[in-house]
Amino acid sequence: MTATLRSLSGIKPTGTPHLGNYLGMIRPAIKLQEIHETFYFIADYHALTTLREAPLLQEYTYDLTATFAALGMDFNHHTFYRQSDVPEVTELTWILSCVTGKGLLDRAHAFKDASTKGQEVNMGLYNYPVLMAADILLYDTNFVPVGKDQQQHLEMTRDMAIRFNNTFGDALVVPEALIEDKMATIPGLDGQKMSKSYNNIIPLFAPEKTLRKAVMKMQTDSKTVEEPKDPDTCGVFALFRCFANEGEQAALAERYRIGGMGYGELKQLCFEHMNAELAAARERYDTLRANPEQLEGILEAGRDKAKRVAREVLARVRNRVGLYQ
Ligand code: ADP
Ligand code: TRP
Repeated sequence: MTATLRSLSGIKPTGTPHLGNYLGMIRPAIKLQEIHETFYFIADYHALTTLREAPLLQEYTYDLTATFAALGMDFNHHTFYRQSDVPEVTELTWILSCVTGKGLLDRAHAFKDASTKGQEVNMGLYNYPVLMAADILLYDTNFVPVGKDQQQHLEMTRDMAIRFNNTFGDALVVPEALIEDKMATIPGLDGQKMSKSYNNIIPLFAPEKTLRKAVMKMQTDSKTVEEPKDPDTCGVFALFRCFANEGEQAALAERYRIGGMGYGELKQLCFEHMNAELAAARERYDTLRANPEQLEGILEAGRDKAKRVAREVLARVRNRVGLYQ
């Protein structure tokens, strides 16, 4: 029997899922179901580092559950759950924090970004990478599909797993990040990274008209239609690439370089490709999102599957460090 490889990833319920989330994480994660056993979860403990409105946590959790369901997550063969439904992860967080040097966390982007922006740095934000490592290590994860911005967290996770194994004997699987280059960082409406916190997102399941408007609003420079343009540095072209096949990309890149193609035309084409990929899922999303009991059922089934693995791994870890069982 060949051992099945396991992929795991999480996403925070902190706002409306957007195209950056879809291209950077959700789409590749769903595709991985074809070759790996997958564990995907809603990182609500992580969301608590910033979210202060309790009812929103629930709403965003359902938004994400409906999003994964609409995009083809196979709940029967894979595991989809809410992080806080498996509180064992907080125990592993503590154990890992006891083998993690403070210097490692001092280098983490998450809290450094917040402190440069003058935002509150609470201890949850500071410990964020340890909780994330626990998320991953608690499930014997082999691969973690994420956007490029999470690379540092994955390196820290590997460091913690290796440190634990060297100290107590091999007990934790050392995971690898899976980062798709083409999707590295999706730009938002203003050209910076698309992010819930920058107010520059294109919502994944915005109604067709809103989606078109958002694409038409993307920032470009002021080159005229006639001027040649560089497909490799243009944000709209980057988005087009994510939805077009290779032939379509090559043909359009050629026209773009020669000149005679304006941003308006490119945006329209980009919208059409995007809409063709998303329209059916958008309809499924609207139906699913209107049915919270069904979404809760999905999460409950996922919790039971996730707990089985978590308990087994945690027992192994407790045993290694000498905690009473
Ligand atoms: P946000 O920055 O909007 O708060 P999250 O931090 O919740 O997004 O990210 C969830 C997942 O989506 C992560 O795997 C992250 O790497 C990916 N992601 C978020 N924004 C982008 C983007 N602009 N381009 C590519 N991937 C992204
Ligand atoms: N930190 C991730 C983000 O901001 C979310 C996350 C939490 C995660 N735990 C994880 C991603 C474990 C992958 C694996 O997007």
